[in-house]
Amino acid sequence: MSIATEVKRRRTFAIISHPDAGKTTLTEKLLLFAGAIQIAGSVKARKASRHASSDWMEIEKQRGISVASSVMQMEYRDCVINLLDTPGHQDFSEDTYRVLTAVDAALMVLDAANGVEPQTIRLLQVCRARNTPIITFVNKFDREVQEPLELLSEIESHLGMDTVPLAWPVGMGRHFGGVLDLRKQHMRVFQSGQERRAGDDEILTDLKAPELNQRFGDAYAKAQDEVELMEAAAPPFDHQAFLLGKQTPVFFGSAINNFGVQEVLDALVDFAPPPGPRTALEREVQPEEPKFSGVVFKIQANMDPAHRDRVAFIRVASGHFERGMRLKVVRTGKEIRPNNVVSFLSQRRDIVEEAYAGDIIGIPNHGVLHLGDVLTEGESLHFTGLPFFAPELFQAVEVKDPLRIKQLRTGLTQLGEEGAIQVFRPEAAGGALLLGAIGQLQFEVVAQRLKTEYGVDARMMPSRYTLARWFTCDDPKALRKFTDANAANIAYDVVEAPAFLATSSAQLRVVQELYPAIRFHAMREHG
Ligand code: G4P
Repeated sequence: MSIATEVKRRRTFAIISHPDAGKTTLTEKLLLFAGAIQIAGSVKARKASRHASSDWMEIEKQRGISVASSVMQMEYRDCVINLLDTPGHQDFSEDTYRVLTAVDAALMVLDAANGVEPQTIRLLQVCRARNTPIITFVNKFDREVQEPLELLSEIESHLGMDTVPLAWPVGMGRHFGGVLDLRKQHMRVFQSGQERRAGDDEILTDLKAPELNQRFGDAYAKAQDEVELMEAAAPPFDHQAFLLGKQTPVFFGSAINNFGVQEVLDALVDFAPPPGPRTALEREVQPEEPKFSGVVFKIQANMDPAHRDRVAFIRVASGHFERGMRLKVVRTGKEIRPNNVVSFLSQRRDIVEEAYAGDIIGIPNHGVLHLGDVLTEGESLHFTGLPFFAPELFQAVEVKDPLRIKQLRTGLTQLGEEGAIQVFRPEAAGGALLLGAIGQLQFEVVAQRLKTEYGVDARMMPSRYTLARWFTCDDPKALRKFTDANAANIAYDVVEAPAFLATSSAQLRVVQELYPAIRFHAMREHG
């Protein structure tokens, strides 16, 4: 098959949700329906077994959250679907944000009882900023949940985009009758049970049949009224508007009961876009170009603390990857020839023979690859758009045993390169290194990993800073004036980008007024 044909059949997406909305359950059911796994329960089991592997994963276990994200590949209806898992806990949102830069679409899962929850909102903001098309799945209709019309208006107000339901629920909870498929004009009757496939469902094609009112009670007439109401008010589904992130198709179901999952899988194949062009500083890169290029969007430490190797997750941006090919790391100019590149098929890690634009490959390495690195067959390309967010929490870090200061620096540099934490070196000489995070848990994970992986007992101390802004300025004189006057508040991150650290937003406002030539940035893009 040609590269163009391979690219066209790729669908690369992430599931975004608030913890407990049903992401793991839905992931598992998608794999099940695509035939990538045979029995329900294996993804859940993996979620549980991952915890055993190391001490810092212990934190995950204690908190019952999923810190590490991974990649799953499945084939369905002639398409290759790459599903990127995103950690649901807000403390790991930085990592999650970067995963979202590697996908072409997102599947938003909502708990129908809770509607749009805080963590989903943050993730949505990233999708909105990138105009990522979003498919919505409203889960848990087998419970007493919110009214579908209410849910839709809640989604609209948070998303700032039109919702277009392509299914409609008949009843809920104990009276959940099933869903009306508004595209096919039939009704899929709900049955509980985890082992069922979509082919087992009872499908009713005559939606006007009077016995439906009897069978499903008031819920049926209510659903029909609602559909009528909504069809008059909502715009019809417009594929182009979806691709531009202006409309989201909405599905209803119950993931645990395998209900409504098939529709979502079909929607992904039918609506989600294949990989598109990616912007580099030098030029726009087309996915079907013959030469390989890719970008490291995530680094994951080996789960086994005895091995210091890490896996760099690379999103293929263009061309064709073959095992054993030579690749250039643009940042260093060095050549690597990765042989044991891994792909991620459901719960197994397989050696990858080839990959195309849209696929994710993993290259185990000992620190050669950093977050944001670009790999090519020789061309110098710098992809833009990998975001670093200004930390919201700070701690100063010192080592208890002064003889281990070198190990501390090595550890922090590597953890910083991985994106586990942001490390700032204060301009003022002798200042303790500062750690910046989006969530408190990041500090705990870093302290734990410094101990187990680098043998460093780090002491975390409160810091007076509460926010950071990277800054730039076109006028060197004005820049000098600013840095001279504020040396005590200036620090440099791992790539030596300067940031202003403030103790309050009031302090930031004051310097913004005093130095109008300086531009302050809450986000820094790699490259
Ligand atoms: P997450 O990855 O988004 O955190 O959610 P996960 O799939 O782990 O699901 C969270 C809880 O919601 C689980 O229950 C799961 O069984 C339940 N759930 C998922 N889909 C549905 C659904 O369609 N209907 C209902 N009623 N529940 C659903 P748990 O009790 O936390 O875990 P478990 O004991 O089932 O493992």
